[in-house]
Amino acid sequence: MPNLEGKTIVVIGAAVGAGRATAKLLADAGADVTAADLDGKAVTDLATQTSDQAMPITAWEVDVTDENSVRSLFASVSGHHGGIDGLVNTSAVLRAETADDDRDRDLLGVSTRVWDLTMAVNLKGAMLCCKHVVPHMKDRGRGSIVLTSSIAAFFGNKDHAAYGTSKAGLIGLTKYVAAMFGEHNIRCNVITPGQMMTESGYTNVSALDREQIYGAGRMLPEAASPVDFAHLAAFLLSEDSRYITGQAVVMDGGTSSMSALGAIAKARTRFGFAPSGAQPPAPVIVPPRPGDAMTGQDPAAWR
Ligand SMILES: NC(=O)c1ccc[n+]([C@@H]2O[C@H](COP(=O)([O-])OP(=O)(O)OC[C@H]3O[C@@H](n4cnc5c(N)ncnc54)[C@H](O)[C@@H]3O)[C@@H](O)[C@H]2O)c1
Repeated sequence: MPNLEGKTIVVIGAAVGAGRATAKLLADAGADVTAADLDGKAVTDLATQTSDQAMPITAWEVDVTDENSVRSLFASVSGHHGGIDGLVNTSAVLRAETADDDRDRDLLGVSTRVWDLTMAVNLKGAMLCCKHVVPHMKDRGRGSIVLTSSIAAFFGNKDHAAYGTSKAGLIGLTKYVAAMFGEHNIRCNVITPGQMMTESGYTNVSALDREQIYGAGRMLPEAASPVDFAHLAAFLLSEDSRYITGQAVVMDGGTSSMSALGAIAKARTRFGFAPSGAQPPAPVIVPPRPGDAMTGQDPAAWR
C-alpha cells in the first residue's frame, strides 16, 4: 500500500461500495480523509467506526449536482487543512432496477427525467467536483483527481443508454482536466471498472445472470472487490503514479479485451448454451443470394 501520510483527500460516494472501501484504505495508509456522500447518515456511521483509529475519517453530506454544496465541501476541507491533495469521486446513479417508467433503458424507452438525473449526478457532478477542487490543489502546488467511469463507456449496449453515455463523457472530462491543469502539477485519471461486487453491482444484475453473463465475459475467474478499486485509487493518488495523467485505467479482469466469440464459447462450455435457463434460439437458415453457389445447409452441395 502506498504511503499517503500527510495527504488531505476527499472521497465522494463514500457511503457504499468502492467509495467506502477507498475511504477506509486511504485512512489506513495515513491520509486525512473526508468521506462525503448524499447519504449523510451512512458516511457519519463510517466516520464513527473509525473514531479510535490513528487517522479517523471525517464525514460530510454533499449533493454533487448542487454547485453550492460541492463548493462548500471543498472550501471547508481546504480551510481546515490549508489545501487539498487528492479527490476520488465514485458517486453515480444507474437506474437499472427501478419501476418501468423510471428505468435507464434503450434510447426509445428512457425518459428525459432519468436521462437528466443520470447526466446530472454522473457527469455534471464530476465536473463540479473537479471545478471546485482544482483551486485548492493549486494552492498546494500539486494534486491528483481520480474519477470513476465504467467499461460501459467503451461499448454499445441494448440498455442503460444514459449511464453508458455519462460514463463515456467522464473519459473526455478526465482528459480535459488533465490537459488544463497538468502545468500546475495536477493529475486527473479515471478508473473504468468492470463488474465489482459492491451492493449495487450485486443487485443491478439478477443472481443467475450475474455469474453466467459476466463470468463468461471475464478473463479472470472472480469479479473485482471494492478493495481492488481502493488499491488502484490509492496508487493513482500517490507519488508512485506521478507521471500518469489523462488516462482511463481499466480494472475489469480482462472483460474489455475478451472477444465476443471467446465469451460465447466460454459461456457454452461453462454454463450450457443459454443464461437463465432460456432455450437456445432456433438456428437461422441464411437464404442464398441470387447466383450464389453456396445454397442450402449442406457444404458438400456448394462445390
Ligand atoms: N459496482 C459495479 O459493478 C460497477 C461497475 C462499473 C462501474 N461502477 C462505478 O463505480 C462507482 C462505484 O460503484 P459502487 O457500486 O461502489 O457504488 P454505487 O454506484 O452503488 O453508489 C455510489 C454512491 O453515490 C452516491 N450518490 C448518488 N447520488 C449522489 C449525489 N447527488 N451526490 C453525492 N453522492 C451521490 C450514492 O449515495 C452512493 O453512495 C460508480 O461510479 C459506478 O458507476 C461500478
